[in-house]
Amino acid sequence: MNPEIHRKLRMGLIGGGGAAFIGKVHALSATLDNRARLCAGALSSDPQRAKEAAPMFGIHANRAYQDFYELLKSESQLDEKQRIDFVSIATPNHTHAEIAIAALQAGFHVVCDKPMTNTVDEARELVKTVEQTGKVFALTHNYTGYPMIRQAREIIGAGEIGEILAVRSSYMQGWLTLFDTTVTPPRGAWKSDPDKAGSGSLGDIGTHAYNLIRFVTGLTVNKLSATTESFHTTRPLDDYGIIQLKMENGALGLINYSQMSHGRLNDFTLEVDGTKGSLQWQQEDPNQLVVRRQGASTEIMHRHPGGEYMHELARLATRIPAGHPEGFYEAFANVYRAAFDDMAKNIATGFQPGVHTLYPNVYDGLEGVRFIERVQASAKDSSAWQAF
Ligand SMILES: NC(=O)c1ccc[n+]([C@@H]2O[C@H](COP(=O)([O-])OP(=O)(O)OC[C@H]3O[C@@H](n4cnc5c(N)ncnc54)[C@H](O)[C@@H]3O)[C@@H](O)[C@H]2O)c1
Repeated sequence: MNPEIHRKLRMGLIGGGGAAFIGKVHALSATLDNRARLCAGALSSDPQRAKEAAPMFGIHANRAYQDFYELLKSESQLDEKQRIDFVSIATPNHTHAEIAIAALQAGFHVVCDKPMTNTVDEARELVKTVEQTGKVFALTHNYTGYPMIRQAREIIGAGEIGEILAVRSSYMQGWLTLFDTTVTPPRGAWKSDPDKAGSGSLGDIGTHAYNLIRFVTGLTVNKLSATTESFHTTRPLDDYGIIQLKMENGALGLINYSQMSHGRLNDFTLEVDGTKGSLQWQQEDPNQLVVRRQGASTEIMHRHPGGEYMHELARLATRIPAGHPEGFYEAFANVYRAAFDDMAKNIATGFQPGVHTLYPNVYDGLEGVRFIERVQASAKDSSAWQAF
C-alpha cells in the first residue's frame, strides 16, 4: 500500500514471457513490498505467446495483450480506477526507446531496464519526453539497491574514508565461453545482433559497473580511454573491455568487464581507495562491505538493520534481520520502492521528480548510453582519450 494514495500501484509488464530472464524479476520485485499489483502485460514479441504467458504472471486474459501498442491503447481507455499506473519494460535494448516514449505519452510512468536506449539521440528524445510529460522514469540499475552499496555511498559521503583517490570495478562472467552462435539459444538471441543489442558485454554489464561507480562515489567522469575486444570467434560484438576513467577530482578509475572468463558467474566487484581508508564490495557476497585502514585490522560490516555502524539509507534498504541473506530481488525491489515513492507523490500532488533521485533516472540513463558511445569511440580510435 502507498500511504499517499491509499492503494497499490497498478503495473503493466512488457516482455518477460517464455524463457525470458529479467521480466520475471521485475514482476516479483515490484510486488515484494505490497505496493504494486501486476494487472496487465504484453509479455512477448510473439502475439500468441504474449497472451499464453499471462496465467503464469496471474494476469487476467482480458488484460493480456498481443503487443505493447494494444496494451497502451486499451489501458488508456479503461476507467482511471482500473487502468495501470506504470509500465515496466523488460524487452531487448533496441525496443526500449519506442516503448518508453509511447508509454509516457500515453500518460503512464515508466520503469525500464538498461541500457536505456541504443543511441544517444534516442536517449535525449526520452529525456525530453520525461520532462514534457512530468512522469516518473526509473532505470533498473538494480545494483544501486543493495544495502551495503548504499552503506558505501554514505560512508564516502560522510568523509569516513577521506578524499577518493581511485576506484575499480571488475565485472566478470563466463557464459560466452560456451556460447554457440550456430544454435538458437532458448533466450536472448538478440544479444548477438549488433542492431538489436547496440553493443556486447559493454552494454550488458559494463554499464552496470559505470553506474555503480557514479552512484557510490558521486564523482563525475571527465574523460575515458578504452580497449575492447571480441574474443568470441563468431559473435561480432565486444565481450571484454578495459576502461580507464579520469574523475572530476583527479581520481583514477578502472572498469574491467568480461563475459569470456571461464567459471565466472556474476562476479561483480567495486573497490574504492580513499586518503583515510578503502572499501570493497562483491556482488556474490552482497551482505558484506569490507572497510580497510592501514595499520588497523580489517573491518567487515554485515548488513544489519540494528547495527550501530549502519547509515540510515542502508538500514532503510533492508527488510529482514541480520544473517538472513538478502540479495538480487530485494535490491531490485529497492529501486522500485524509491520510484514508487515518487509515483505516489505524483499521483497525489502532481509532484515531479528532479535530476537527483535515489533510483537511477532518465539522466543516469542518458549518461549510461553516452558512456557506451564514448567507450566505442575510444576503442575505435586506438584507445584515444575521449572527453565525457
Ligand atoms: N538489470 C539487470 O540486471 C538485467 C539483467 C538482464 C537483462 N537486463 C536487460 O533487460 C532487458 C531484457 O533482457 P533479458 O535478458 O530478459 O532478455 P530475454 O531475451 O531473456 O527476454 C526478452 C523478452 O522480451 C520479449 N520481447 C521482445 N520484444 C518485445 C516487444 N516488442 N514487446 C513485448 N515483448 C517483447 C521477448 O519475447 C522476451 O520475452 C535487456 O535490455 C537487458 O539488457 C537487465
